[in-house]
Amino acid sequence: MRVKILRQQYPGAEPYWQTFLYDGDADASVAAVLDTLNYKDDVVDADGNHAPRIGWECSCLQGLCGGCAMVINGHPALACETFVRDLGEEIVLRPLSKFPVISDLVVDRGVIQENLKASGDYIGEYTPPSPKEHAHQYAAAKCLKCGLCLEVCPNYGKGEHFYGAVFANDCYLVASTSKEQGESFRKEYAGHFAAGCSKSLSCMEVCPMQIPTIASMAKLNRRG
Ligand code: SF4
Ligand code: FES
Repeated sequence: MRVKILRQQYPGAEPYWQTFLYDGDADASVAAVLDTLNYKDDVVDADGNHAPRIGWECSCLQGLCGGCAMVINGHPALACETFVRDLGEEIVLRPLSKFPVISDLVVDRGVIQENLKASGDYIGEYTPPSPKEHAHQYAAAKCLKCGLCLEVCPNYGKGEHFYGAVFANDCYLVASTSKEQGESFRKEYAGHFAAGCSKSLSCMEVCPMQIPTIASMAKLNRRG
């Protein structure tokens, strides 16, 4: 199997494609393929040329940290939850396009945290939420901050004011547990999410935690 990877040695360097050969287990995940390609004394590409080790990120290898988010055969997904058997004859890997590349498949998703920080994302005095909120609170709190929802969103990246689905879910969590922050967070939600969302809902299709962002939106709109 051929594994074609869009590579970039360092931030700002010229990207280039490099192809590798993988002849391991068809039940392996893309994360395991990357590990197999990297853990050799000499990493060589499909033409036998020496290649630098492939930069990619992971921590959990079980769909829980979000680190391995990348574009796999054109679809934004987690490498540890995407399997060779589902990918056909060639695997094509690119870094997420909505974030600056650090190295190969590693991107800087710091903007997600920066946006939360800029909006004053803290709970302050905790107010126990109504039991009616518990189920959706649990769902929204599963967010990995992986950035896949931002990658597919047609509105994210068009201007600096729209923070995307990841922000809507955090707004809901804060607004539903904080008396102190509830009001100001509804304003942040209106300015940095509701005003820019065209409801393509592609964020929900791609979310590895299957967070129903539309429910966060409905609950925040009802509070507004
Ligand atoms: S909402 Fe889903 S896709 Fe978006 S950052 Fe959170 S876990 Fe990832
Ligand atoms: S390595 Fe943690 S989600 Fe893939």
